[in-house]
Amino acid sequence: MPPRPDKHDAASLAFATQAVHAGNRIDPGTGAIRTPLVMANSYALPDDPSSIDWSGTGVPLYTRNSGVNQLALQEKLAVLEGGEDAVALASGVAALHAVFFTFLRTGDHVVVADVTYEASWRLFAELLPEKYGIEATFVDASDADAVATAVRPNTRLVHIETIGNPTTKVTDVAALADIAHGAGALLSVDSTFTPPPLYRPLVDGADLVVHSLTKYINGHGDAMGGAVIGARPLIERIKSDAMVDVGGVISPFNAWLIQRGSITLPLRLRQQQETAARLARVLAGDPRVAFVAYPGLPTHPQHELATRQFGGRGFGAMIAFAVDGDPETQNRFVAALRVVTSAVSLGHDESLIVHVGTAGPRVAAYPEPFRRFGHLRFSVGLEDAADLEADLLAALDAAFR
Ligand SMILES: Cc1ncc(COP(=O)(O)O)c(C=O)c1O
Repeated sequence: MPPRPDKHDAASLAFATQAVHAGNRIDPGTGAIRTPLVMANSYALPDDPSSIDWSGTGVPLYTRNSGVNQLALQEKLAVLEGGEDAVALASGVAALHAVFFTFLRTGDHVVVADVTYEASWRLFAELLPEKYGIEATFVDASDADAVATAVRPNTRLVHIETIGNPTTKVTDVAALADIAHGAGALLSVDSTFTPPPLYRPLVDGADLVVHSLTKYINGHGDAMGGAVIGARPLIERIKSDAMVDVGGVISPFNAWLIQRGSITLPLRLRQQQETAARLARVLAGDPRVAFVAYPGLPTHPQHELATRQFGGRGFGAMIAFAVDGDPETQNRFVAALRVVTSAVSLGHDESLIVHVGTAGPRVAAYPEPFRRFGHLRFSVGLEDAADLEADLLAALDAAFR
């Protein structure tokens, strides 16, 4: 017999129930059934504070060492990702930096995917080498042999994205975990495009999972945050090195908002993925569209890997595409949209689109049509699918009128 579901025992619960209850408890002070927002910088000290660890992180002491809302969110994120512990920080980039700062030192080498979020690219291409003497080799992380070849005796970290921002390249996490561990390195995986329950990289051997909570996990476009999830000793190191002593801690209000937003994560993701699959097919079938990159399309180069790795639970809700024309045509298309909003970020409740051109050093690593046309990074939201489809088709009409 399966264990009886109990909201106080996260392991007994299915994902949707965890998303409602994990990390939440009846407030002992007020009896409120949801963890209240605690906007306090400091917490009362015991009469004899001499045994307090002033850099400790487990109990509320000072909000940079962990506040009530941060602790509740961390507990929930660890459950949702299937990790022992989590640390919540001020943004996704703070979380990425926290991993790199904590686990790398001068003389270390990193193998990093050639397609990643801009800040990861810049940290490894410019800032960490220049400031700290950390070396990075950028490789096509969808090619496990290329990753194995890039590893050196001083490689301490392999850093990838499950679905790469922005080209949607998919990486085989289990294969790269084997390579990283064989080299004595850690595998960190930015899973922002593939939040749970779609995928849990820890199951496939990742050591650290990074999220921009700003995106799907909050889902409402109103709070920034980032997190790292993994085994307790690794997360403890991040808390003590990169949280308490660097200071990019999440604010109580953002932690509270993100905890609230994350309750509907499974519902939102299911809807967004379903709409994204439909819109990807519509776009791919339209002769005015130059290309569509979406892992759910059979034409996607890693479609089979994505099907296997994500276990049939979907392919995310991020689409990269371009209309078949020059940059002005792309701009006319975006300007003609009446439902989709032209703005950065992704994973929000509303659909967002960004026109990214062909300039800049990162573009060299993108597939040919991205280099030729630029691309539109499209984050599919929660609007009615028919409204979104009509909006895209009307904007295509306008772009070519
Ligand atoms: C894959 C990925 N990782 C990290 C980040 C950074 O997150 P934040 O904007 O919360 O700092 C982003 C932002 O777009 C992202 O797309």
